[in-house]
Amino acid sequence: MCGIFGYLGHQDAAPLVLAGLERLAYRGYDSAGVAVIDRAGHLEVRKSAGKLANLTSLLEREPLSGNAGLGHTRWATHGAPTDANAHPHLDGTGEVVVVHNGIVENYIELKGRLAAEGHTFTSATDTEVIPHLIQELLAQGHTLAEAVRLAAAELRGAHAIACMHAGSPGTLVALRIGNAGGVSVGFGSGEMFVASDLPALLPLTTSVAPLAPGEMAVVTPEGCEMLTLDGRRVDTARQTIAMNPVAAARGGHRHFMLKEIMEQPESAMSCLRGRLGFTPPSAVLGELPFTSEELRSLSRVVFLGMGTTQYATRVGARTTELLARLPASAEDASEYRYREPVVDERTLAVAVSQSGETADTLEAMHLAAGGGARTLAITNVAGSQADRGADATLLMHAGPEIGVASTKTFVNSMLVMYLLAAHLGHARGALTDAAAAAHVEEAARLPALLGEALELNRGVYERLAAAYVKARRFLFLGRGLLDPIAREGALKLKEISYIHAEGMAAAEMKHGPIALIDGETPVVALVLRDALYEKMLGNISEVKARGGVVIAIATAGDDSIEAQVDDVLWVPPCPPLLAPMLAAVPVQLFAYHTAVHLGNDVDQPRNLAKSVTVE
Ligand code: M6R
Repeated sequence: MCGIFGYLGHQDAAPLVLAGLERLAYRGYDSAGVAVIDRAGHLEVRKSAGKLANLTSLLEREPLSGNAGLGHTRWATHGAPTDANAHPHLDGTGEVVVVHNGIVENYIELKGRLAAEGHTFTSATDTEVIPHLIQELLAQGHTLAEAVRLAAAELRGAHAIACMHAGSPGTLVALRIGNAGGVSVGFGSGEMFVASDLPALLPLTTSVAPLAPGEMAVVTPEGCEMLTLDGRRVDTARQTIAMNPVAAARGGHRHFMLKEIMEQPESAMSCLRGRLGFTPPSAVLGELPFTSEELRSLSRVVFLGMGTTQYATRVGARTTELLARLPASAEDASEYRYREPVVDERTLAVAVSQSGETADTLEAMHLAAGGGARTLAITNVAGSQADRGADATLLMHAGPEIGVASTKTFVNSMLVMYLLAAHLGHARGALTDAAAAAHVEEAARLPALLGEALELNRGVYERLAAAYVKARRFLFLGRGLLDPIAREGALKLKEISYIHAEGMAAAEMKHGPIALIDGETPVVALVLRDALYEKMLGNISEVKARGGVVIAIATAGDDSIEAQVDDVLWVPPCPPLLAPMLAAVPVQLFAYHTAVHLGNDVDQPRNLAKSVTVE
């Protein structure tokens, strides 16, 4: 989490850094700050708790001038989101300035040692030890690059760090240790940029060099030198990235989240483009380097992910098991990485991550690779760490997702996994040509069906949001492929409306949660016309028998359901394997309208960040 942006060149640094931080705000937004050094070597910092607008106002009142700047937007780990804890952080002399993403795991020990040597600290952060360590090394006669490198060697944990020194106003040092989010250098003409991720650089330059773990960049306005953290020069490849930053604009919608929900038919279409072969119908996943022999020799597929994406992998694992007849599991990456799982050369580990930067997912993927597994990344961000670190990548092609709550990438990740399952099933002989073709034809229907799903229930969401907004908690129930959608519905509601919600397999309710049922705990029941329909009706009856209130998410045309529940949201009739992707629409829109009704900040909900790059 946390966003880092740096600039060296001929322009005024502060406005550029501020604009860069705006593009990174999805990584964290509880406080922000900027440091600028002028040509005379005068270093000044402005920082402010709260959203970036507070820093913008501060800079209007107290502007900074200079051509070297470093900024940070924070998601707090150590120390509350206050002005004092906001980055950048300075050493005791006020000459070394650092911004940081990661956790200094041994900061208590380092802080104790430095304090005993006479250093005084002004924040409750772990980060503040870093400028103090660097200053000590500068005082011993090391260059800035050397001092940063040697200081980094004292830190435990995974980090992205950028540092400047008033004594060298034309130099910025950035480094990366492990997987605490990326650092990329952007090349301009007589100016250089540093940022946590590629999209933040794209309005300024498409010529970039992402740092690998264990690398550092010594940047000047004319270029940069890349080194390993043990001091060897490396030739980090410069890449040209194509991406349209205009696509990230809200496009007339009140919130990015709504825009991203509404563009799901189009993003699903982008995901399918080039991947559907029609003569004969087949899933064309040309990005996969694995031979048919390798696919046939697989003994299991392990899907790795977190949060919303992990719920998508639950759908993916079930679909894989069904179509490829391969044991498949959906793993919480943060647990997987610490549990010594069974992995071998016949395992395919699929790391699914919108951002491609989620620390736990990346580590779980590396762990699986270490055990011999072939790795595949499914991500929305080309050039992300997941993309670069896996044996192969399937891109989601959803376009930039700015709203912190994942929506269109949730659907696209399920869609990619559906294609993957059909591809595996066909390659392994578990699906006949005809069966594989039928799945491809069904997948091709998704964009149109998503369009229908968005058309249904117009005006109903607003009415339901007003009717149920006072509820203290919600339960979401689903079965089969809709169990993960129940969980996702609860997560969406929690993260943007701040109303407690639990999602679970419907049968699980009887084993405890049924005690929560009362007239003030609405139950959202996913009861589509599928193989488990009758079972879901049974669960709905159990809720109604206890005085519960039920909002059904049901198949359009199922008129009988209306008499059994209190309210209904419709989903168009669809093939069973598309049901989770379509049922995602009403749970997203229900959460969205509830949060809007409450006046919440839908795109930047409290306490969250778009990419969780710390564990
Ligand atoms: O970028 P990733 O897909 O790896 O992110 C994983 C989760 O942090 C993410 O899905 C999160 O739960 C959602 N933003 C919630 O809407």
